[in-house]
Amino acid sequence: MTHIKIAPSMLSCDFSNLEKELKAIDAAGADYIHLDVMDGHYVPNITFGPPVIKAMRPHTDKIFDVHLMINPAAPYIEAFAEAGADIITIHAEADDHTHRVLQQIKATGKKAGIALNPATPTDVLDHIMDLVDLVLVMTVNPGFGGQSYIALDNKIADVCARIDATGRDIDLQVDGGITDETARMVKQAGANVLVAGTYVFKDGTKYYSDKISSLRKQ
Ligand code: DX5
Ligand code: ZN
Repeated sequence: MTHIKIAPSMLSCDFSNLEKELKAIDAAGADYIHLDVMDGHYVPNITFGPPVIKAMRPHTDKIFDVHLMINPAAPYIEAFAEAGADIITIHAEADDHTHRVLQQIKATGKKAGIALNPATPTDVLDHIMDLVDLVLVMTVNPGFGGQSYIALDNKIADVCARIDATGRDIDLQVDGGITDETARMVKQAGANVLVAGTYVFKDGTKYYSDKISSLRKQ
């Protein structure tokens, strides 16, 4: 059976105490720490950038899974790598030269991810699979936490088949509207990394561990 990884999205945590939140989510059993970077241009919201990620870095050894919702991404890749990202994911639509930016990420020694918006067809993966370590299927339109899940099970299954065809160990991540119920659906479709913001954080620190285990066992 596939090992399911849970990637809590810090977008829903208490930004006034990132150190405490990171330590709590680490202790609760997170596999990846999902960091949503938004620029107010590619998506209609602004979050944080490399200095904040750098400040977060000493507080956990967990994998920093950096989801860039910025356009352009190319000028900032090195800064995110230096700040402590382990995986850097760009959107297929967010840069004119996706292949080159993926090469740029690999050149920093970090893992490279490609994100597909709900309306983005999976054939954008055709000529870049050899460069990617993670494919992110968005199940909401990017920009905000707390939105409703968009059912894209067939699309997730399509990406799963493409990953299987490579014979490589590529993460299939799903992000947006993940709850116990939708976790079950996306796992069945083939996802192995579940991002969850609202669901994990909304009831407070005391429940982080229960929420993570619940998503894992669905
Ligand atoms: C949305 C972000 C997500 C977001 C998910 O643009 O990419 O990572 O935090 O939040 P929930 O789990 O609340 O849908
Ligand atoms: Zn995200």
